[in-house]
Amino acid sequence: KKSIAVMTSGGDAPGMNANVRSIVRSAIFKHCRAFVIMEGFAGLVKGGPDYIKEFFWEDVRGWLAEGGTNIGTARCKEFQERAGRLLGALHLIEFGIDALIVCGGDGSLTGADIFRSEWPSLVQELYQNEKITKAQLDKYQYLNVCGTVGSIDNDMSSTDATIGAYSSLDRICTAVDYVEATALSHSRAFVIEVMGRNCGWLALLAGICTTADYIFIPENPEPHKEWKDKMCDIIKKHRSKGKRTTIIIVAEGAIDTELNSIKASEIHRALCDKLDLDTRITTLGHLQRGGKAVAYDRILATLQGVEAVNAVLESTPDTPSPLIAISENKIIRRSLVDSVVLTKSVAEAIKNKDFKKAMSLRDCEFIE
Ligand code: F6P
Repeated sequence: KKSIAVMTSGGDAPGMNANVRSIVRSAIFKHCRAFVIMEGFAGLVKGGPDYIKEFFWEDVRGWLAEGGTNIGTARCKEFQERAGRLLGALHLIEFGIDALIVCGGDGSLTGADIFRSEWPSLVQELYQNEKITKAQLDKYQYLNVCGTVGSIDNDMSSTDATIGAYSSLDRICTAVDYVEATALSHSRAFVIEVMGRNCGWLALLAGICTTADYIFIPENPEPHKEWKDKMCDIIKKHRSKGKRTTIIIVAEGAIDTELNSIKASEIHRALCDKLDLDTRITTLGHLQRGGKAVAYDRILATLQGVEAVNAVLESTPDTPSPLIAISENKIIRRSLVDSVVLTKSVAEAIKNKDFKKAMSLRDCEFIE
């Protein structure tokens, strides 16, 4: 019987519980034992029955819609060091686990892939230090790793959607609709800052869904020094057509062409000073990560959970670690490491001020 463990890692996202539920139940359905690792990689490093638990069918009852992650998550420094990974390997072997599915963002999935590639040397070291037996060394020759992408940011290349992104988008749109009502009453301007780290997907889509007047995203940096005038001209035009509200959506990672970050406070100042608009800032913060998973995330997380278990059962030592993605509405497998590299190349292109390349890596067009 194979033993498959699942953990959630990095920032929580609605739909992670649905993904864990699906993985646990698919594993059991396929006659495997299912384990959960509490608190992400931090729990793996700590080990023991408080952190590594066998789960059964009914343990995930009612989890499909719930927000957050019931098995906990963490951003773990120890696992970035070999010593932490060595402990992680020991704890997996102690529980007889031979496959690990990680639901998390690019950082967590990179960590998982490093763990897999290092696995043979970790196991050797454990044997040399007499932490495991010869029988265990022979049995746990390689670790089967698979990633399902859970993050509200939708920042992973090679998948159209990450688990949680559409729920977060829904929270943002609802919040902007609320703000719109009060903005209209007072004829005010609102600068709304949204999450997304270095990715503008949430800001861009929220802006489209709420007919925002202006959107700032990292992938399409605003002209240095000139962006304030450019924005004000557009807002002035909208106001001159009788619009009583002004909504600006700014991604937390928004930058100008000199890579200076564009802060909500600067936008606020420009609107007050240049247009004399009564302006407020609303930072949505962690509200965007809360609440139940929308239908799309429940479906995505469930289908990807089933596929992750299939991928683990079919993989061999020569198969690269798979990442479960969605592309053109189909659940597919990609190489985890290639997806991570592609994701990092967007950040790299932005750092090199090659915005055209950054946009094309995100399948978008750069407008000069
Ligand atoms: O990656 C998800 C995310 O919510 C980002 O959008 C945001 O930058 C970050 O996590 C916030 O992290 P924390 O919850 O640790 O403050």
